[in-house]
Amino acid sequence: MEITVILSQENETLPKAELLSRLQTLEIKYEILNEYPGVIELEVDTNKEKIIELGSHLGYTHEILTTIDKTTPEEIQKSIEKIDWAEIIQDTFKVRVKRMGNGVVDKDKIERNIGGYIQDKCKMPVSLDNATHTIKLVYTNPKTVTNEFKEERVVGYNKVIITELLIEQDKKHFFDNKPHKRPYFHPGSMSPKLALCMVNLAHTKEGDIVLDPFCGTGGILIEAGALNTTLIASDLERCMYEGTKLNLAHEGFENFKVYWEDVRKLEIDETVDAVAMDPPYGISTTLGGEDTKKLYTEALIAIEKHLKDDGYICMASPHYIDMYEVAEKTPLKILEQHSIRMHKSLTRIITVLAKK
Ligand SMILES: C[S@@+](CC[C@H](N)C(=O)[O-])C[C@H]1O[C@@H](n2cnc3c(N)ncnc32)[C@H](O)[C@@H]1O
Repeated sequence: MEITVILSQENETLPKAELLSRLQTLEIKYEILNEYPGVIELEVDTNKEKIIELGSHLGYTHEILTTIDKTTPEEIQKSIEKIDWAEIIQDTFKVRVKRMGNGVVDKDKIERNIGGYIQDKCKMPVSLDNATHTIKLVYTNPKTVTNEFKEERVVGYNKVIITELLIEQDKKHFFDNKPHKRPYFHPGSMSPKLALCMVNLAHTKEGDIVLDPFCGTGGILIEAGALNTTLIASDLERCMYEGTKLNLAHEGFENFKVYWEDVRKLEIDETVDAVAMDPPYGISTTLGGEDTKKLYTEALIAIEKHLKDDGYICMASPHYIDMYEVAEKTPLKILEQHSIRMHKSLTRIITVLAKK
């Protein structure tokens, strides 16, 4: 089947990397057909249920839609008329225009006209609040103009993808899960979206054993726990160890072990399937005066011993640490890296590692 994925545009590379990583974890064969800002068209060798499973555990994917047809803004009416709407729509529906960028599109008029046409064909009622089918017209492949300051502006579109919404991101999950709403909070907590993305970049799947040896308040493991995983955490600080236990129990998880331990001395019986971690950067969190690079190297060497042979580690670090230099001294190799600009003096690097 063909799908259209609407990605967050808050980062250039992470949303796509997370999507592709999760497709691989779920063993869904795919081919990328086209890419535009915030949009990827894919051919996937699977069914709707599997795509819903895919879409229900992603941090930076906004929507996954089934592709019905592709056309241009000029030809949209003609293309709509060729589709067998009675076959697609057997319950309440609505039509929505989604434009990628700020190009001019008469959204209300198109939704009204096309909605009216489809209603005539499928004989089903329109419901704006609670429609079973949402038909989305995705205006993409932007026409841009560049001004004298070399700034690009979207003025129109070359393509409209006619789609039906399959799954959209549960914004409530991220809202309800904000770190300060948990029983134990610390300012160094990671955003739930990035935590989920890291869990996905570590190729975590249902039922896995997942380790975060720098657990802090447990933010990363909270996202991994939604996949019925066994969670293993450790932290050097007693308050974090107690806090993570509190937070994981508060989420309703039962399958977890938390250690009050330095990662380099961590002894566990399990072989873990995935590791996601956010070690201290040597600025605001405790490091006990140690050199950050040395800690990362020793931590990776210690963690590698607990990781299954084809497992992945996803790790966050600050831009001023050369992770290639660190990885060189470990039995691990770097597979991919992404950067997130936090503020003027800090860019976070997200690195995915595997055994050499
Ligand atoms: C950046 S914070 C992790 C934040 C976490 N991802 C969250 O969402 O709350 C890093 C944590 O690593 C812990 N830590 C520092 N050195 C450690 C070590 N050698 N072994 C284990 N934990 C350590 C710190 O106590 C701190 O809680």
